[in-house]
Order: sequence, then C-alpha cells, then structure tokens
Amino acid sequence: MIRTDALVISNINIGADNHLIRLRAPQIARDGQPGQFIEIRCSSTWTPLLRRPISLFRIGRHASGYSADEISILVRVVGEGSRLISKTRPGETLDIIGPLGKGFTLAHSTRRILLVAGGLGLAPLVALADEAISKEISVVLLQGAETGERIVPARYLPPEIEYQICTDDGSLGRCDLVTNLCPEYLDWADQVCACGPSAMLPALVTQVRDMAIAGRRIPVQVSLEARMACGVGACLSCVVDTRHGKKRVCKDGPVFDLSEVNAW
Ligand code: FES
Repeated sequence: MIRTDALVISNINIGADNHLIRLRAPQIARDGQPGQFIEIRCSSTWTPLLRRPISLFRIGRHASGYSADEISILVRVVGEGSRLISKTRPGETLDIIGPLGKGFTLAHSTRRILLVAGGLGLAPLVALADEAISKEISVVLLQGAETGERIVPARYLPPEIEYQICTDDGSLGRCDLVTNLCPEYLDWADQVCACGPSAMLPALVTQVRDMAIAGRRIPVQVSLEARMACGVGACLSCVVDTRHGKKRVCKDGPVFDLSEVNAW
C-alpha cells in the first residue's frame, strides 16, 4: 500500500451520474488485484474529511487499450465527496492510497466464470474479467441496475466477454433482477463472483444452495459493500459478522467466500 498523486488522464461521463476516470498510478497498476480498492482524498482542503473508497475498475497490465502504468475507476456522484472527485480534470492529480483490501482469487481449475454485478458492483468484476481473459477463461458478466442510463455501456468493457443486462424499470435489457438471470448460467460456470447491494446476496445463496443439494458445488466469492471510514482496518466501522467471527470489510475483505458470510 502506498500514497501517491495519481495523474488524471481522462474523465468522462458515461451515463447518468457515473464517471470513468483513468489515472496514471504505476505502483498501484503493478500491484493492484481485482477486487481491491483505493482511498481517494476528496479535496485539497480536506473537506469532506474522509477519503472515499473506490474499487479498481480496470488495471492496466490486464486491460486492453490501457498502458501498464494505468488504472481506472468508476465514480458515481452520491454526495459531496464523490461530486468533487467527479469534477477532476485531465492533467490534475488525485491523492490516493492503495491498493487496499483483499481481492478476488481465480481458482486454478476455473475455465468458465460467471460474474454477477448489481449497480456499481460492476467495477471490481470488470477488473476480474480482464484477468480471467488474460488466462483464457470464458467470462459471462451479468449487470443489473435501476435504469438503463445507469448501465455501463459495453464499449467500456472487454470485448471478449458475454454481457447480459437487466434493469428494474425495463428501460434497457430484461426487466428483472440480476439474480434472476443467474440460473441460466450456473450450470455452465465453474466459479461465480458477485458484487452489489447486500439485498441481492440472499437470492444467490439460495440458488447456490439448491445446486449443492442437487449434487453440484460451485465456489462463490462476493465483494461486500459497507460504509467505511478509515479504509485500512483501524476504526472498525465496516465490521460484518461471519462464520469465523467479526471481520473488517476494508481489511479482511471486501472479498469473502459466500459460505463464510452466509447469514441467510
Ligand atoms: Fe475502518 Fe474498515 S473502514 S476498519
């Protein structure tokens, strides 16, 4: 983990209140793993005080069209901190700390991976898709969002993946919950990774449990969302209950085995 001033290469609005920001951050691009995140200082005045945790979206060493010293992030404007970050312009720098947390692990035996994203839970899964593609693993990525304008357009994703989308209001893709798309792919996949609101996890748990009852166990990793203050394991604001006691999402996660956090 380092603190560095990352140069903003580009910052584009990709729909609704979502921004794609490309950064030059050589050490984080070298060491970062899919599922890890960075903490970004919101302004030079330290107002707001707390840094904002943002997942790595693309990591240059795996992402086509990126140089090896680049990373990118998706920023959704939800408050003053993210609004300030979303306003940064090419040529400016962002004060960032990272890479932080524990990311996803691709099993050696994985040949077909299913990625399930709710909202901006897409970001770490795209970084994982890039790594999977580099290992010649087939990737299906399912994304659900409230509306079509919050769906990340396919042109910002690796072209090798199969990408299926659904929206709550039916304005783009299927009108459905993203977890309702999973059964079509669970037989195909030999690993599943998911990220999104905690409300989508019980459905995934039920589907995986039903498969296990039918005799097919499939490893599932989930990246948990939690409110974070310090982002480095010190403040305990992000603690969740697991089968192995209380864990910090920022330090022990955000990625956990689903079986570890299965509380439903
Ligand atoms: Fe402080 Fe996780 S955010 S311990």
